Amino acid sequence: MLSTKHVLGIKYLTTADIQKILETAQQFKEVINRPIKKVPSLRDVTIANLFFENSTRTRISFELAEKRLSADVVNFSASSSSVKKGETLLDTVNNILSMKVDMVVMRHPSPGAHLFLSNHIDANIINAGDGTHEHPTQALLDAYSIRERLGSLDKKKILIVGDIKHSRVALSNIFCLQKLGAKVKVCGPPTLIPKHLPHLGVEVEYDLKKGLQWCDVANVLRIQLERQDIKYFPSLREYAHYFGVKKSILDELTHQIVIMHPGPINRGVEISSDVADSDHSIILNQVENGVAVRMAVLYLLAGQRN
Ligand code: CP
Repeated sequence: MLSTKHVLGIKYLTTADIQKILETAQQFKEVINRPIKKVPSLRDVTIANLFFENSTRTRISFELAEKRLSADVVNFSASSSSVKKGETLLDTVNNILSMKVDMVVMRHPSPGAHLFLSNHIDANIINAGDGTHEHPTQALLDAYSIRERLGSLDKKKILIVGDIKHSRVALSNIFCLQKLGAKVKVCGPPTLIPKHLPHLGVEVEYDLKKGLQWCDVANVLRIQLERQDIKYFPSLREYAHYFGVKKSILDELTHQIVIMHPGPINRGVEISSDVADSDHSIILNQVENGVAVRMAVLYLLAGQRN
């Protein structure tokens, strides 16, 4: 059981909740590696996946997780819905819930959209990304993947590199990693580092090589051009020169580090192909672990309904 009815953000989860999710995910990882990957845990539970923003990994991962738990699944994409005709978020969700839906997985461009819904509806809500705010299941699968590779997160040094300002992955990772005892630094151009980060107990490093030399794990983030209303740096070429993670920099480090990326990758900008595809990289392990972690979240929330 979790201490909360919804997973709106890592901010609202206790350390015990996070540990429970990671332990449960371990069991589901064993399940999805069996020849028969399906269990009946969520039979007769209906889940709506509501995506008001584009997604590849998160949407497919949730749908697979739901189907492997034997849930009934409906998918909604804003681009082909009556949202285009002016229907509000609350009306859309209430109409879907009236068809006897039990749980809602939602991605929405507005920070706080899930918190708003949680004050108006009875179904369990899981945040699959709310604008620049939080992406809790990404942080949980990232924590699971680090723990799988390094054994534990306690006192591990994690560097988050890139567009911190526009990244929901960065904020959820900061909350999650700190709750699990890791040390977090961020690295990127000053224009892409929010000024409030020191208040969250996060150090800032502007020199990529120094940051990589400090860390055990580098989580490399995409530049979110679609969320940038002004130019934050002169060109992608210049960004890649100063903040792109390349093999030539990793070769100069005195120890080997683990490379992560939540996807989608912009090869040649924030990460070079010879790093993304190297033995240092656990990027595809992250994607694999996402299904088990999301199964754990769904299973633990559904358990509260009985
Ligand atoms: N990591 C992640 O959220 O990817 P998608 O946008 O493809 O879901």
